[in-house]
Parts: sequence; C-alpha cells; structure tokens
Amino acid sequence: MAEVVFKDTTKIYDGGIVGAKSINLTVRDREFIVLVGPSGCGKSTTLRMVAGLEDITSGTIHIGERLINNVQPKDRDIAMVFQSYALYPHMTVFKNMAFGLKLRKFPKEDIKQRVAHAAKILGISELLDRKPKALSGGQRQRVALGRAIVREPQAFLFDEPLSNLDAKLRVETRAELKSLHRRLHTTTIYVTHDQEEAMTLGDRIVVMFEGVIQQCAAPLEVYDYPVNRFVAGFVGTPPMNFLEGKLTGSNGSVWWEGAGAKLKLPDAHNQYLVDHAGKDVVLGVRPEHMSSNHEGRFGDIDNVLSVEVSVVEILGDTKDVHMKIGDNTLVARVNAHEEISEDSQMQMYLDTDKLHIFEPGDIGVNLCLSKEASGVSA
Ligand SMILES: Nc1ncnc2c1ncn2[C@@H]1O[C@H](COP(=O)(O)OP(=O)(O)OP(=O)(O)O)[C@@H](O)[C@H]1O
Ligand SMILES: [Mg+2]
Repeated sequence: MAEVVFKDTTKIYDGGIVGAKSINLTVRDREFIVLVGPSGCGKSTTLRMVAGLEDITSGTIHIGERLINNVQPKDRDIAMVFQSYALYPHMTVFKNMAFGLKLRKFPKEDIKQRVAHAAKILGISELLDRKPKALSGGQRQRVALGRAIVREPQAFLFDEPLSNLDAKLRVETRAELKSLHRRLHTTTIYVTHDQEEAMTLGDRIVVMFEGVIQQCAAPLEVYDYPVNRFVAGFVGTPPMNFLEGKLTGSNGSVWWEGAGAKLKLPDAHNQYLVDHAGKDVVLGVRPEHMSSNHEGRFGDIDNVLSVEVSVVEILGDTKDVHMKIGDNTLVARVNAHEEISEDSQMQMYLDTDKLHIFEPGDIGVNLCLSKEASGVSA
C-alpha cells in the first residue's frame, strides 16, 4: 500500500486542450479519495495519468517512493476498474479473475487462493464457473472488482464503476465498496460526477472544474465551507441558492442588500467581509437553511426574504418550496408540516449563521472564510 502524490501534474492534449492543470494532491496511504466534478472537468484524465494510460505533459506522480512518470502501466502496481466491466466473454468468472495473475506468472495454487478469497469477500463464490453473459449487471461489476482485488495492488483506481448499474443496485454496491475499503485499506482514487456518491464514499473529496482542483477536504467540510461559488453550487441537492446584491457596512455590522431585502451578516464574518463593503457580491443560502417558521432559526436578528411561492413538492418528512423573488428562483427544503401554500406571498426566515457571501462570477471566492481556509488544501 502507498500514497499517491501529484506535483504540478498537468496534461495538455493535442491542440492545446487542457485535460488537467497543475494538480497538487497527496492521496494518503489507505485513503479513499473521490475526484468529482462535471463532465469534462479532468477527472478521468487525472486518473488515467496515474494508470499510465495518458502521458504526463509536465509535473510528476509518485506512488510511494517511486516516480512513475515513465514506468510502464503494467509495472505500476495499481489496478483500475472502469465503467464498462470489460470482462472476457468466453472465460468463466474464475478465469476472468485469474487472468491478470496468470499473465504475471503467479503460481497456480496462489492464484486459486487469491481468487477464492476475493470471491468470498465479494459474495460471488457461487458464480465462479459461470460465464459473464449469465450474470446480472451488479454481479459483473463485482467480478470486475474481484479482478482488481486479486492483484493486491498498491492502489485501486475507479472510473465511474457504478454508472452502468440501476439506481438501487448503485446504492447497494456503493455501500459494498465502502465496506470493502474498510477491510482491505487499499489506497483508492475514485472518479464520479455524482456528488452524492462522492460525499458518501470519500474520506476526502476533490472537487474539480475546468481541469483545476477547486477544493480538497472532508465531505462535510466541503459542504459547510465551500471555498467558492462553483463548489458551493456543485455539492448539495437541491443546490445552494444564489442571489446577487451588494455588501454594505454600518455601525460595525456588515449587511447584504439585494432582492428587496437587507440581511445582517454574522459578526463572526465581519473581519473578512468588511473590506468588501460597497462591492457587488453574491449571497448563497442552502435550501435547508430557509423556513417559514421563525423558531429554531439562528442569529440574533430576523433575516427574512419576501418571496412568492410557486410550487410545493412534498417529499415525505420534508418538502421543497419553489419560490420567486423578482427574476430569481429559489428552492427551500422545509419540514413537511410547515404550512405553505402555492401561489402565495410569504416571508422566509434564514439561518443567518449559515449564509455565504461570494465574489461575483462562476468561481467567485467565498468571502466568509479566512484566507488560509480558502486556499486549496490538498
Ligand atoms: N484524448 C483526448 N484528446 C483531446 N482532448 C481530450 C482527450 N480526452 C479528454 N479530453 C478533454 O480533456 C478534458 C477533460 O476530460 P476528462 O475525460 O478528463 O473529463 P471527465 O471529468 O472525466 O469527464 P466525464 O465526467 O465526462 O467523464 C475535456 O475537455 C476533454 O474534452
Ligand atoms: Mg471521465
């Protein structure tokens, strides 16, 4: 087992297309790290450089002590699992799992033991004599995992391994992957575009956008302290609401003004926000930090937005309230018992302590965080 260290690792494809730009990241020994971000943000490129399936344009990657930039893929001692399981159709499950070991000339007895062990861990011992076409999607994916496990590599690389499975199986297999990691402790780099999958699986998650790491931190830290507007909007469902406005300062307090409202921001943020008084900023508020009910709200004053409710969707114990303020649409996720009617005007209370203020633009910096906190900690 080993850590994987990226240092200024960059991939530029032919024609100057940026695949991944100056990746600086240490995946710790035994860590499960998830690369997440929208399509084209550079997740697969980053992973494929570790696997040796893409040349590194500049910078380095180390696995353990070893610089692997110029090491052949087969000699990197890693195992990769893809979205398409790519099993050999004419081979049994046993042979599929044994194939890589056989190529590497492992002794027969050793191969048998490793395959039996992996099959037991994955619950597919009964399937070893079957061919892939006689397996369900979930079982095939487990065979693909088994093929990686038997190698006992220094690191596992996963590129969207669950995306061919239906929703229920995905959630089940996700839980299995997590418990598998708890048993094997193999350093893992896992790629997905699904932020929920990232949050549930990762010890830390790495949010990427346009080839660049935006933030690397534990899931809840990313959720509670997103370093910029892109991360804030990408992590969480329904996504964070954004409203454009201005910061104003008076009497030692800082206020956000916009959408017909004036909101007092927590004193704790003053030190970071005061320099931006008078500037255009974007307010960020998560759906669960709004309510028609004042009780249980945080903050020392009532911060409210006057909204026009358009649609209410009941989800069970919560409901989503779709609202308008002028041209802006917002979503609040509230307790299902709150009385809110469609097509009504009402006041929405905000959890003042949970508000975020961003600089304008798609990746505007979160101004509520200290300068150190808003650096990319990888
Ligand atoms: N072989 C290639 N040649 C040229 N450009 C490429 C190549 N592979 C990827 N790219 C480009 O590099 C960027 C990053 O692609 P990458 O496949 O790493 O994204 P991704 O985050 O894995 O996306 P997805 O979620 O769609 O799989 C994209 O702009 C993509 O178009
Ligand atoms: Mg990809």
